[in-house]
Amino acid sequence: MAEFQCEQCGAELASLPVKKLHEKQFCPKLTATEPVAAEIETSNNGDQPTEELGRLTVPIADPDYFVSSLVAAEIQRVLALCEAQPENLALVGPKGSGKTALALQIAAKRQAPCYVANAYTQRSSDEWFGREGVSLEHGTYYVPSLFVEALETEGAVVIINDMALMQNKSIQNGLNDILDYGIRFAWVEALAATLGRPVRVAPRVLIIGTWNEGAAYTGNIMLSANLTDRFPNRIYMDYPPAEVQKSILMRKTGISHDDASRLSDFGARLRGLQDPVEVSMRGLIQAGRKMQLSANIHDALYYTIISGLKPESQEQALAALEGIYTTNEKHLVSTRTNQWEAWADGGEKWTEVSAEVKASWERAVEGWRPPSKAGGN
Ligand SMILES: Nc1ncnc2c1ncn2[C@@H]1O[C@H](COP(=O)(O)OP(=O)(O)OP(=O)(O)O)[C@@H](O)[C@H]1O
Ligand SMILES: [Mg+2]
Repeated sequence: MAEFQCEQCGAELASLPVKKLHEKQFCPKLTATEPVAAEIETSNNGDQPTEELGRLTVPIADPDYFVSSLVAAEIQRVLALCEAQPENLALVGPKGSGKTALALQIAAKRQAPCYVANAYTQRSSDEWFGREGVSLEHGTYYVPSLFVEALETEGAVVIINDMALMQNKSIQNGLNDILDYGIRFAWVEALAATLGRPVRVAPRVLIIGTWNEGAAYTGNIMLSANLTDRFPNRIYMDYPPAEVQKSILMRKTGISHDDASRLSDFGARLRGLQDPVEVSMRGLIQAGRKMQLSANIHDALYYTIISGLKPESQEQALAALEGIYTTNEKHLVSTRTNQWEAWADGGEKWTEVSAEVKASWERAVEGWRPPSKAGGN
């Protein structure tokens, strides 16, 4: 005897998640007429900055995300085109150039329910659409993924993040039909029994794919040309210009204009080398946060960016640092001693964080928080 029975069609269902999804998305009685429209819950009481939509989430707008006017105009055009039919948009660029952040900000601007599918967690081409569950009573059953829920939600923004990190090439194939402007549905064998129809992309859905391109990305797979060709809208991203980076660093970490200039200058020097070293915004922001905790610029950059570079790049980075030290810092860094002691004996206190710094952290919270009603994919 099944644990639950669908009130609409009488189907017997093994467990609650299956029942919930079945009724919401897949019950033939409910879906025969029209796809389930998204309902925004209005119980947003302030502690929860996102609006929950089933288990999809509208990301919060990041007041400190900067975008160029050319890119903003292109995004407006893509969103306008998306009113007529689902669209695919590629955000391609070096690590930490703001691809994932921009994808989330597009969803926030559009106030759209959003789901981020991380390409590297998929183990097979079928897994995009669901995973097997096992219960003692009912044996093996198939739980549709949030990716399916998102694709079938009208007006959703579905982010396929880090596409070049897929574990192998065959995993790409699961996406071909969904991404194809002329098809936009996929027959998924394992779902056929519950669904009785293919997975369909709902009207006004925007699918955003992000990936890194280039020889530097060892470990990435080459995306097949027919997959990338399914993204006729493409934005190639680069690091924001120095002035903008300074503003971002000041706004996101609360450091002074001078310190922000020096961090941004460090990034520019390394990126401008003949054999460029990519310095991600992520690393610079983290270094800024440590400077706000009184780290000198050497330690702030060493423990976030420099120590992770290959040896020859480390040398270049240390040389770049020489150029941006204040006299005081240069002296401090070169003359300080580094002593080892049993840690428990040390009288060292934890760094005190001032209320002012804490307040700026509040402000700097990323434009994204995970859904509170987390559900596994
Ligand atoms: N234009 C920008 N304005 C404000 N913040 C930015 C901007 N670009 C990047 N950032 C910040 O830099 C950090 C890294 O950005 P993000 O994670 O989006 O990079 P990414 O391109 O997706 O990197 P990866 O390729 O490693 O996934 C984030 O904290 C993001 O908010
Ligand atoms: Mg990313």
